[in-house]
Amino acid sequence: MSTLGTTGPGEGAAVLCGIGAVLPHTAVSNADLTARLNTTDEWIRSRTGIAQRYVAGADLSTADLAVHAAARSLDRSSVPVQALVLASTTPDRCCPATAPAVAARLGLTGIPAFDLAAGCAGFLYALAVAAGLIADATAQAVLVIGADRLAALPDPDDRTTVPLFGDGAGAVVLRRGTAAEGGALGRVLLGSDGTHADLIQAPHPGALRMQGAEVFRHAVDRMSTVSRQAAAAAGWSLDDVDHLVPHQANARITGFTARRLGIPDDRQLQNVEHVGNTGAASIPLLLAQAAADGRIKPGHRLLLTAFGAGLTWGATTLTWPDRP
Ligand code: UT7
Repeated sequence: MSTLGTTGPGEGAAVLCGIGAVLPHTAVSNADLTARLNTTDEWIRSRTGIAQRYVAGADLSTADLAVHAAARSLDRSSVPVQALVLASTTPDRCCPATAPAVAARLGLTGIPAFDLAAGCAGFLYALAVAAGLIADATAQAVLVIGADRLAALPDPDDRTTVPLFGDGAGAVVLRRGTAAEGGALGRVLLGSDGTHADLIQAPHPGALRMQGAEVFRHAVDRMSTVSRQAAAAAGWSLDDVDHLVPHQANARITGFTARRLGIPDDRQLQNVEHVGNTGAASIPLLLAQAAADGRIKPGHRLLLTAFGAGLTWGATTLTWPDRP
């Protein structure tokens, strides 16, 4: 039974009202990698656009990253949250989930808190779940975190995957509001295709295997298609979009995706050069950095899209709020 009967037009929308992000202290440059892998700075930059990534030491867990990013987003939103969703491919343990421990460390013991695994599309999946909890009035506000330590997944001697991945976390607070206000999230469109599960798999940390060229092709196809659908669902033409905010897998994937959408480079946000592929943290980290340095301004229309292991993908629209 729907609980939406008491709400008026546009009410029950999820509205972004706080954001925070964090990176580990240690930056690993391409030069650092060439010292121990048979690779070059030129190869890594030309194939991926990545110049450095941040890597967490053994003393910094996924939960630690999640707590730091979440605390910043909670400070900025100053609204009480009634649920926590943590998107991650690298939870601290198989069992229990990482989210309840994160909630407890944030002083949120008692609220529902759970992990969500959807690869590098995890943050968009988590936004969809949070928007659903808000729409049916289960929660007035939800904390959504994307946190990953993807640098731990490749075989440390595998030059084809080590350069791609970094660690980090980003978090947003979504509150109940209206579709017309700044911060409003559009419909979140999601998909998966498990027939290609073998294209990116990591049976355990240190054992990631990836068929890079195939992943590349699927990523561009899926992100461009679902981005068109998300823009259409919001009633936007692609010309209305101020910034494409793609999951930072690598600069060639995001460049091909933007070109297929007819979105010029200066309307595509990027930070992959400095942070690499940070998985579920990628989009909130990019949003936080771009808002802080002024690339994103209040009222900007953003088109978010992601793709990852699963295969999974998703897209949504977001109008940037005044002071998140
Ligand atoms: O969320 C999704 C996450 N996944 C991704 O973002 C990955 C998507 N895939 C890609 O971006 C690209 O496939 C890669 C950047 C991973 C690889 O680029 P590619 O153009 O597909 O290269 P390749 O795998 O076909 O390899 C070409 C050559 C090979 O040498 P041979 O067999 O032609 O002699 C590789 O061994 O490049 C070699 N190679 C390297 N050479 C120097 C692979 N990695 C490196 C390296 N340095 N780091």
